[in-house]
Amino acid sequence: MKIGIIGYGQMGKAIERVAIARGHSISVIVDPKQGYVLDELSPSVLENTDVYIDFSVPEAVVENVKMISAHGKSMVVGTTGWYEKLGEIEEITLDRGIALVYSQNFSMGMNIFFDIVQFASRVINHFPEYDIAGFEIHHNRKKDIPSGTAKKISEIVLKNVDRKKKATFFPGNRKIDSEELHFSSVRCGDVVGEHTLILDSSSDTIRLSHSAKNRDGFALGALVAAENIQNLSGIHTFDEILKIVLKEAL
Ligand SMILES: NC(=O)c1ccc[n+]([C@@H]2O[C@H](COP(=O)([O-])OP(=O)(O)OC[C@H]3O[C@@H](n4cnc5c(N)ncnc54)[C@H](O)[C@@H]3O)[C@@H](O)[C@H]2O)c1
Repeated sequence: MKIGIIGYGQMGKAIERVAIARGHSISVIVDPKQGYVLDELSPSVLENTDVYIDFSVPEAVVENVKMISAHGKSMVVGTTGWYEKLGEIEEITLDRGIALVYSQNFSMGMNIFFDIVQFASRVINHFPEYDIAGFEIHHNRKKDIPSGTAKKISEIVLKNVDRKKKATFFPGNRKIDSEELHFSSVRCGDVVGEHTLILDSSSDTIRLSHSAKNRDGFALGALVAAENIQNLSGIHTFDEILKIVLKEAL
């Protein structure tokens, strides 16, 4: 496939590396820092691409989707922190007849972790002795707090554990209520991404942890999404793509 990279930062570079290793080519790179601004590229350059992968900044996503969909091209969006615009983006994709796959976390391992969290939450729902909380650690350049993945893990817990009613990411200086799911964030150095869920009773502690070792796992997931986007239209999550891929593999 001919892949267009939007955002040539740490993730954009990982996409390039993993795409080439999987036999794809890079048709265009869009990144203002590199001097390549989307609305200054010629239509022929933009059209010479099968699918675009966006790992840029949250405030650029809506404009990027508008520009790319105007050329009838589908997109994989790994950028996080724009989800309040989901409705607007869904309308654009339907209007233009393109497909867009997004995820707060494209890592295959993390998607397995989501299933483990769901299973643990369902079990612990029957054992009120256990309290539940979480924390995440990321590098100090990360723009959003909490991480999109922390929000997703919290959503899974809240959906499956009746005694937890809401996630609290910024409690301030006070006691945590027993109905709150406390999920805290730390920013430090060059940590790629760690998420831990703690299930704690008076007799033991269960810790479920996922640590990303590098960015290639995210890039691989985004490329798997790109490779499976051609027959889709409208907006889809990576979970849906994984289900399609696994159905074919099993
Ligand atoms: N969904 C996932 O699995 C996943 C995994 C890792 C990172 N992310 C997210 O991906 C995004 C990028 O992460 P990163 O670590 O590569 O960040 P980064 O800061 O290294 O790179 C971002 C790049 O986007 C460029 N950029 C800024 N405005 C742009 C625009 N209008 N168009 C195109 N490019 C633009 C910047 O110049 C920069 O080079 C963040 O939102 C991060 O949270 C998601």
